[in-house]
Amino acid sequence: MPSSRENDLATIRSATVADAVRIAELSGILGYPITAKTAAARLEYLLSRSEHLVVVAEITGVVGWVHASEQYVLESGLQCEIIGLVVAADQRARGIGRGLVGRVERWAAERGLEQLSVRSNITRSESHPFYERLGYVRTKTQHVYRKPI
Ligand SMILES: CC(C)(COP(=O)(O)OP(=O)(O)OC[C@H]1O[C@@H](n2cnc3c(N)ncnc32)[C@H](O)[C@@H]1OP(=O)(O)O)[C@@H](O)C(=O)NCCC(=O)NCCS
Repeated sequence: MPSSRENDLATIRSATVADAVRIAELSGILGYPITAKTAAARLEYLLSRSEHLVVVAEITGVVGWVHASEQYVLESGLQCEIIGLVVAADQRARGIGRGLVGRVERWAAERGLEQLSVRSNITRSESHPFYERLGYVRTKTQHVYRKPI
């Protein structure tokens, strides 16, 4: 996917493995600290699969990223979900998050997907007014269960 300016400030472009260091740093801000090496390995996997989209926002360096994926779900069919999104703390409220989500929406529409969803922890206080401002409607609240196996 070619790069473009979907935001006046930042260039929104597909991620590359070379973005791993900065993507890992921003992942830590999101609450998922990973090493650059891990980020590089995951990017290599994701970028080779057409059902995944990883996009970055760049000014002089990478200031945000979004990961979205197309999923085929037994009970609901094809759907698109934003898996992760973060903008550097000192670059927020400048339209960068909107630009990243806008790119995902365009990608999903091009793939014929009719709906985009995102799950966001209730503790992410800034994300809720953000998604609502972008036209997303809260449809349910869930508990998440985990078990080591
Ligand atoms: C949520 C997040 C991605 C928003 O990014 P951002 O670049 O600051 O958002 P934008 O500047 O593009 O804002 C888009 C719109 O949402 C609104 N908005 C954004 N944050 C807001 C907030 N905290 N309160 C109220 N409105 C907000 C903006 O006012 C803007 O509206 P406008 O375009 O009509 O002026 C960013 O705050 C972030 O990275 N948070 C931490 C990680 C996180 O919560 N990620 C989401 C996980 S699902």
